[in-house]
Amino acid sequence: MSEMKETEAKRPIMPDAGADNRPLVELTHVEKHYGDLHVLKDINLTVRKGEVLVIVGPSGSGKSTMCRTINRLETIDSGDIRIDGKPLPQEGKELAKLRAEVGMVFQSFNLFANKTILENVTLAPIKVRHMDKKAAEDLAMDLLGRVGVASQASKMPSQLSGGQQQRVAIARALAMQPKVMLFDEPTSALDPEMVNEVLDVMVELAHEGMTMLCVTHEMGFARKVADKVVFMADGQILEQSTPDDFFEHPKTDRAKDFLSKILTH
Ligand SMILES: Nc1ncnc2c1ncn2[C@@H]1O[C@H](COP(=O)(O)OP(=O)(O)O)[C@@H](O)[C@H]1O
Ligand SMILES: [Mg+2]
Repeated sequence: MSEMKETEAKRPIMPDAGADNRPLVELTHVEKHYGDLHVLKDINLTVRKGEVLVIVGPSGSGKSTMCRTINRLETIDSGDIRIDGKPLPQEGKELAKLRAEVGMVFQSFNLFANKTILENVTLAPIKVRHMDKKAAEDLAMDLLGRVGVASQASKMPSQLSGGQQQRVAIARALAMQPKVMLFDEPTSALDPEMVNEVLDVMVELAHEGMTMLCVTHEMGFARKVADKVVFMADGQILEQSTPDDFFEHPKTDRAKDFLSKILTH
């Protein structure tokens, strides 16, 4: 029995990384309105196992809304979303299970303010995955070590810098051993000197084979690790291409305009 727990705690983050390249996230003809506002227009997107997609586009183009539909924090009007081949359940246990497969890291760190760093990371594995406390703590310490904040485990979130808190948020998401990680502008709320410590963790994850969907304005990150850059504007996906193609040869005027604005300062 104690042997089993040992194995459980040392389970790698991605148990079957690199085994195949099946689609893990598939959006087909997804439509969404907020009242009169048509916020997602015929969105078709596939993220395959091990792929890193970077989503860019002007503010208000629907990037966050799209991310939120993927673990059903937002409903859609029509179309289809599948995670690892399974349609998104409407509610209940099945939905909770699916959410556990999609890790999400937002712009704001969203740690539980009244729990220690360690408790923040062990909470969901214990509650949702029914991991025993010791195994969850071993896993949490391993993950906190990977993101470089193991020494902060017994502190409260407010005692950590923004960059440290965001790295804890990443460890917390990884503790559920998700199949896919979604990042929605994870460095936008950080002081500039803390951006790289968070991006470094994301680069490492990408290199380890994690499947990732990242909304970010960090173009250096996009160039370094993205398999595909997805450009959104006005609720539509206007371009999907390799980083080199996107940055060197944007096809649409919207993308050219967007790039000229972000790359010229
Ligand atoms: N809960 C909401 N209710 C109404 N409108 C919303 C809501 N959330 C976002 N929007 C609007 O939807 C559009 C897309 O927003 P969002 O997905 O946040 O874009 P992005 O992340 O690309 O900046 C914006 O015009 C925004 O104001
Ligand atoms: Mg957004």
